[in-house]
Formats: sequence, C-alpha cells, structure tokens
Amino acid sequence: MTRYQKALTDLRQHPRTWLITGVAGFIGSNLLESLLRADQIVVGLDNFSTGYQHNLDEVKSIVSPQQWAGFSFIKKDIRDLEACHQACAGVDYVLHQAAIGSVPRSLEDPVNTNANNITGFLNMLTASRDASVSRFVYAASSSTYGDHSGLPKKEEVIGNPLSPYAVTKYVNELYADVFNRCYGFVSIGLRYFNIFGPRQDPEGAYAAVIPRWFDILKQGKPAHIYGDGETSRDFCYIDNAVQANILAAIATDPEAGNQVYNIAFGQRTTLNELFIMIKEFATRVNPDTAGLKPVYADFRPGDVRHSLADIAKASKLLGYQPAYSVTEGLEKAAGWYLK
Ligand SMILES: NC(=O)c1ccc[n+]([C@@H]2O[C@H](COP(=O)([O-])OP(=O)(O)OC[C@H]3O[C@@H](n4cnc5c(N)ncnc54)[C@H](O)[C@@H]3O)[C@@H](O)[C@H]2O)c1
Repeated sequence: MTRYQKALTDLRQHPRTWLITGVAGFIGSNLLESLLRADQIVVGLDNFSTGYQHNLDEVKSIVSPQQWAGFSFIKKDIRDLEACHQACAGVDYVLHQAAIGSVPRSLEDPVNTNANNITGFLNMLTASRDASVSRFVYAASSSTYGDHSGLPKKEEVIGNPLSPYAVTKYVNELYADVFNRCYGFVSIGLRYFNIFGPRQDPEGAYAAVIPRWFDILKQGKPAHIYGDGETSRDFCYIDNAVQANILAAIATDPEAGNQVYNIAFGQRTTLNELFIMIKEFATRVNPDTAGLKPVYADFRPGDVRHSLADIAKASKLLGYQPAYSVTEGLEKAAGWYLK
C-alpha cells in the first residue's frame, strides 16, 4: 500500500474538516471530488471570478448524496479578511487554491493579479494562523523558477520572475516562510507544473494549452503554437496534484513542514509532441482533424522556454508518487475534454 492509499484509508476512518479556496475552479473542484469521495467534511470558498457553478454541479453528480451533504459553500472573496476568518472556523486543513492564474492575464492586469494573489493570500494565511488550523497547504507555481535555465528544476535554486504572476507566487512563498519565522505557523507550498485534467477551462484568451487544443482540434480547426514548438513543459495529471495536496496536509514529519515542493510528473514534453498526442485523441471524434498541422506564431512574452521538475524532495519528504504519466493522464482526461 502506498503512503497515499494509507492516507485515504486513515482519513475515511477519521474524517477531517477541510477548507478549499478556489473550489469552483479546475484544481479546487478536483480536490473537492477526491475529498468527498473519501467521506471528508469540506468547506469551499470561491467568488466565481474564473471558476464555475457547473464545476460544483459536476462534482455533485459524481459523488453520493451522503458525500455531497458533507460540503458547504461560501460565495465570498479572499480579498475580504472577514470572509477568510469565517471560512477557516473549525477547519483542520486548508488547501488554498484561489488565485488569478495565467501569465498573459497578469501582464494585462498586474494590479488585479496582485490584489487576488498577494493580498488574498496574506488574508488566508492570517485567517488560517488565527484559527490555528493544523496545516495550510497552498498552490505555488513553477513560474517561480523564472529565468533560471538549469534543468531539472530543484526547489532551492530559482531565477528572476518573468511576469507579474510569477512575482505574486514567489511573494506567497516569502510570506509563508516569514509566518513560520515570526509566528511559528507551518505551511507547505506546492509548486505546480502545468497541471491538466477534467474541468480545466478550455474557454477564453487565457485558457491553458491542453484544454484549448482539445477544444480547437475536435472542431477540426488548426491550433496555434507560440514559438517553434520546441518549448517544453512537465505536464502533470490532476490526480497527481490531488495526491500531493492530501499528503502535504497530513504530513507529520517536522522536516516536511515549512517547505515548498515541485509537483509534476518529472518528464518533459515539447509542444510539438503534445500537439501530435492531442491530435490523435481529437481524430477519434473528428476524422477531419487527422490532416491538421500546427500554425506557428510568435513566442509569448513572459513564457519560460523549458520546464522540468526534480520531484525527489516531494517523494522523500511527502511520499509523493505520481500515479499517472502524461500519456495516461491524457487518456483519462480525453473523455471529458472531447465531450
Ligand atoms: N493549473 C495549473 O497548471 C497551475 C500551475 C501553477 C499554479 N497553479 C495555481 O493553482 C491554483 C488553482 O489554479 P486552477 O488552474 O485551478 O485555476 P482556476 O482559475 O480554475 O481556479 C481558481 C479559482 O479561484 C477562484 N478565485 C480567484 N480569485 C478569488 C478570490 N479573490 N476569492 C475567491 N475565489 C477566487 C476562481 O473563481 C477559481 O474558481 C491557482 O493558485 C494557480 O495559480 C495552477
């Protein structure tokens, strides 16, 4: 039995109360689904800025009525400190996901990104400390590696941020560390590397590459690649990220706390390779897609060229063992993306 399987068994026997911020978003709603399936009590907070009621409705349709009864929702904003205090009351573990994602969006509107991702984060950290929650786990980001070109990325070596979004995610880590030094409050940051899976929004100018390409290619339309297609990412299936959150929340090893961890699969895929893989799936529902070639466009400002994680630290201190490769994740997610 893996540490994760044991954790789920223990949680089923002794249910805990969890707070998920950003619960109506992609990662938040997947955390909700897994925790409810494990018979946990979950409080969710979201302001629906980039999340959707239909994500919550989908989780409701998947879990049992008894499991769904364990969920309560607060439609509020993390920029409101009082709302954060309300949400944290009686909570054991906080999984803080709420933020304004996307590098290009932060270049368009750095002020809004800052308010949500830094002020909102500080509010949640403060409220979690005041409520003496057992663990504060937060969504950090691989964007913190910035212009450091070394591969694979190891947690302790970072470069300069390349976007306002990356600044906000780095500031989160600094605040988490300072709360440990000043107040003895322990948190864990998970530097996600291009997470993908069901309920990831395919719509809009800021959609991530995998849902966007599934959406475009299934319609038989050509997809754009920014740059020459040799840009690479460590794409990571959502169930791996869920596993990391749960392991981080319940980790009791004192060495594991007050740390940041790479959360990825640990393999590099270029955009050209990804295009071929997604095209194959899309061809299953639309034979016209088979002949499509990518349309190459300019590199996007703020994007890093290559990204690959060393996941040894999460493996050693949290017992993180990603269960799905990119191919397995795409296979699992394809049904949802192609619906
Ligand atoms: N998806 C990835 O690959 C990835 C990579 C690195 C980091 N992250 C981080 O993971 C977290 C979740 O990302 P996601 O992909 O699920 O994005 P998402 O946009 O689907 O989810 C974010 C959720 O937070 C909510 N939210 C935003 N601002 C809020 C506020 N002020 N108050 C209350 N709710 C608010 C949104 O409505 C949304 O439901 C974010 O912190 C993001 O920066 C994601």
